[in-house]
Amino acid sequence: MAKTKNSNLSAAKKAKNDEFYTQWADIEREMNAYLEYDPDVFRGKTILLPCDDPEWSNFTKYFALHFRDYGLKKLISTSYAPNSNSGAVFYQPTQFETGSPDYDQTKSMQRGRVFVLGDKDVNADGIINIDDLQWSYLEGDGDFRSEEVIALRDKADIVITNPPFSLFREFVAWLMDSTVHFSIIGARNAITYKEIFPLIQRNRLWIGKGFHQGDAYFRIPEEARTSYAAGVFDESTRTVHFRNITWFTNIEHGRRHEPLQLMTMADNIKFSKHKEVRGVGYLKYDNYDAIEVPFTDAIPADYVGAMGVPITYLDKYNPDQFEIVGITDRGNEYALKLREYDKNDAPNAGDLNRRAAIKLADGTYKSTYARLLIRKKAAP
Ligand SMILES: C[S@@+](CC[C@H](N)C(=O)[O-])C[C@H]1O[C@@H](n2cnc3c(N)ncnc32)[C@H](O)[C@@H]1O
Repeated sequence: MAKTKNSNLSAAKKAKNDEFYTQWADIEREMNAYLEYDPDVFRGKTILLPCDDPEWSNFTKYFALHFRDYGLKKLISTSYAPNSNSGAVFYQPTQFETGSPDYDQTKSMQRGRVFVLGDKDVNADGIINIDDLQWSYLEGDGDFRSEEVIALRDKADIVITNPPFSLFREFVAWLMDSTVHFSIIGARNAITYKEIFPLIQRNRLWIGKGFHQGDAYFRIPEEARTSYAAGVFDESTRTVHFRNITWFTNIEHGRRHEPLQLMTMADNIKFSKHKEVRGVGYLKYDNYDAIEVPFTDAIPADYVGAMGVPITYLDKYNPDQFEIVGITDRGNEYALKLREYDKNDAPNAGDLNRRAAIKLADGTYKSTYARLLIRKKAAP
């Protein structure tokens, strides 16, 4: 099921096609969530937008527009050289670049570019905006892993971007090598990656406000539309639709501090709207020391042991209410695991070992979806 849902994204990753552009309204919704929590979140800050290109992307335009009202100190955006980017086969320099005295045909293909907006009204029109952006070619191709982009990261307070999905793990590791705050777009499935989950567990990163129900619509270069199956590219909006997309961040926002309103276990068993819980109760896993809670709104408020909850619970996660103690996913071996199966136990032993398993009344076993293991936080 997950495979079908994310097949556009998987195909894009495989083809190393990273050319999707984030929509203005999606950037705005996410940034507003941080601003609602802390109106000064960007004040006096240097923001780096790597993996960007102001001629294509909305990130630079968005922050340039808000330069003054957000109180930014500096905005730096870097782009990746077309020759290094297999997704940039349709690249054409824009008039912005070709019309500049600094334009160089060879460098344009081989080098990344850096765009800077400081508190300087370059064209003296009385406002600081995108027209005051100054640009130059980088020494290298603008790879976020290059020394010169690393040096920019180390001077920045906040990194914001939609990084190449094919390099998501590496991009997060790159962020973790520094002390920056960040907000980046990625596939929700990354929560289960063995490189990412421990960071979530330790509250080094969390889910942002996110997209409505995980549905993201990205603009793509017009010519790239034929790389997508019929129906995926929407002619009227010139976007492709990816499911299960979210923002990963370490910037605080309000929802993260709202407690989930939940019923007790007894009330859930009596009144839950889910037939799997009402009158049935909660099943215990056979291979994890935890109970199965198949829906976030069915988490029993008064249960003190570990509970396996859907990954989407993270959208509602409040670290003061619950702690994350593990995940039922192979590669993430956690203490709550009780046993491994072999083929004498069940023909589907491999599946069972990968996830949490429930022993059914007839003695067979059923594997569940990947679950986060959470526990009610003890009162301080
Ligand atoms: C998903 S797109 C997002 C573009 C833009 N940030 C936006 O959201 O509209 C990712 C961008 O990363 C760039 N990219 C790919 N590999 C990169 C690398 N190793 N270093 C820096 N940028 C890279 C691609 O050129 C692509 O435009």
